[in-house]
Amino acid sequence: MINTEIRGMDAVREAGEIIKSGGIVAFPTETVYGLGADAFNENAVKGIFAAKGRPQDNPLIVHIHDVSLADEVAEVTAEAKKLFERFSPGPLTLVLKKKEAVPDSVTAGLSTVGVRIPSHPLALAFLKAVGRPVAAPSANISSRISPTSAKHVFEDMNGKIPLILDGGSCEVGIESTVLDLTKDIPVILRPGSVTAEMLLQVLSDVAMKTGEVAVAESPGMKYKHYAPAVPCVGAVTMEGACSKYDEEVKNGRKPVIICLDMWDTGGRKTVYLGKNSSDYARNIYGAMRDAEKVFDLIIVQILSGGGLDFSVMNRINKSTQGERV
Ligand code: TXA
Ligand code: MG
Repeated sequence: MINTEIRGMDAVREAGEIIKSGGIVAFPTETVYGLGADAFNENAVKGIFAAKGRPQDNPLIVHIHDVSLADEVAEVTAEAKKLFERFSPGPLTLVLKKKEAVPDSVTAGLSTVGVRIPSHPLALAFLKAVGRPVAAPSANISSRISPTSAKHVFEDMNGKIPLILDGGSCEVGIESTVLDLTKDIPVILRPGSVTAEMLLQVLSDVAMKTGEVAVAESPGMKYKHYAPAVPCVGAVTMEGACSKYDEEVKNGRKPVIICLDMWDTGGRKTVYLGKNSSDYARNIYGAMRDAEKVFDLIIVQILSGGGLDFSVMNRINKSTQGERV
């Protein structure tokens, strides 16, 4: 078993050396923590899949610190350049035609590759120290909730990787928007905090991928993601949440309500996420990781607006398998 260290900015150079010699390092981004390896090192990339227990047909995002590195992995179109200029560094991943040199293990054999420039200062310092593209999925065990703190990563990766760079709690809290630019109309494969409305400031049209897909075109959609270890149901109203809670207690169970500050749950066990959908996104994964250790049912508030509400609910719909009270 490997000894897993948690370190800060002081370990950036060391982290760079680990990646360059074919190892794996977890690092913070503004969205969630990533599990990085040299994107051009097939064996190192395979190590990521092993550490996560991730299915081989789910491709990884390639992370770079500067747009000038994008050419090494992808065909950067004029449209992609515009989007990078407007939204990077930041929580947007562009799916582009890949360059030959990118190993199949990174892209799951697809002819495309996801490219992202994260904005977290420690991510940028780390990627700069590596000096080459870093393939990285979220740093959780496959099918677990994405980690938004170094402690979450440690829970899932202790003994499997040598180093976790600790950059504190992730500011955004849900994974990046994944936008496929290889289709006639750009398609959002995974909604995030860069919303369709924001993308339409730069693009003339954007489509939203809906439903589950069976093929490996956007394999992330095939898998059960974002699910806590205990059952989880969505509540559209405060009254619905409270009556479900009371019913569960009557049946001898230990439920918890996770919601925004606006709900008054009358003394029932409640985890408050904050005032708005940004707070909700930032705190939801941590709240679920904490709740699953103590409670046996999570009742989570459903948001019904567009924009970030919609992106957060994309994750919650998977956690709850669509179940509503
Ligand atoms: O915010 C994020 O994107 C985080 C941080 C670490 O950057 N990363 C992340 O990676 O969430 P991961 O592997 O957990 O999710 C990547 C998603 C998956 O759903 C995958 O299927 C999709 O992006 N993806 C990656 N490359 C793709 C490609 N070439 N075509 C279509 N979908 C792709
Ligand atoms: Mg993931």
